[in-house]
Amino acid sequence: MKTLVIGANGKIGQHLVRLLVKQPEHTVKAMLRKPEQRPFFEDLEAETVVASLEGSVGELQKAMADCDAVVFTAGSGASTGADKTITVDLDGAAKAVEAAELAGIDRFIMVSALHADDRSHWTKEMTPYYIAKHHADRILQSSSLSYTIVRPGLLTDDPGTGKIAAAGKLDPGSIPREDVAAVIVACLKSTDLIDKVFELTSGDSQIEDALKNI
Ligand SMILES: NC(=O)c1ccc[n+]([C@@H]2O[C@H](COP(=O)([O-])OP(=O)(O)OC[C@H]3O[C@@H](n4cnc5c(N)ncnc54)[C@H](OP(=O)(O)O)[C@@H]3O)[C@@H](O)[C@H]2O)c1
Repeated sequence: MKTLVIGANGKIGQHLVRLLVKQPEHTVKAMLRKPEQRPFFEDLEAETVVASLEGSVGELQKAMADCDAVVFTAGSGASTGADKTITVDLDGAAKAVEAAELAGIDRFIMVSALHADDRSHWTKEMTPYYIAKHHADRILQSSSLSYTIVRPGLLTDDPGTGKIAAAGKLDPGSIPREDVAAVIVACLKSTDLIDKVFELTSGDSQIEDALKNI
């Protein structure tokens, strides 16, 4: 299986590429925004492609043309405004889904956000972000793709513990980015998680055990 990681240079993305290059029978292509981001991935012997979610659907389709799966773990980040939330987190995700359908890709893993489907949790400041995540998820769910939507809580840079909680609904919580990356790898390997949506925080269960109950 060959996977395009969109947002590969991000914090989850780098953990994910590091994990995927170690998987037998798996190759990875890192989608980057800038050529100067390549050396980190070349050191890992991962393939790279330069493309932007603010570019065309055709550009994204070309980036993923030889892949079997796509992981969307990009984000406009907290330092940009609502305009980028729309063009990257919402329309960028929508274009990635459209491109994957056109490219004949089957598997699509979306990194969404805890409570993206429950407006009662959306704070005023974060509402544009949640709107983007909510509708990006819905677009993916109504596509022809075999999706898995992972909705992690607050991300931390702590080392991964390999212990998680995963369920349709969870209370607010946090999780190391390294553990989110490990969960994405498990999703790519599992056909049981196709067309599933789950929330994710740190917890008491080993990743494989927690995902069995989704
Ligand atoms: N922060 C949280 O607590 C939280 C909670 C739940 C879910 N999430 C979601 O988790 C995901 C990953 O989080 P993270 O902390 O790993 O994010 P991150 O470190 O900010 O990485 C985001 C990546 O997206 C890339 N990106 C931004 N605009 C792009 C564009 N136009 N085209 C292509 N790539 C673009 C960035 O590229 P550059 O490297 O070039 O800047 C970066 O590599 C995001 O989807 C985020 O919304 C976050």
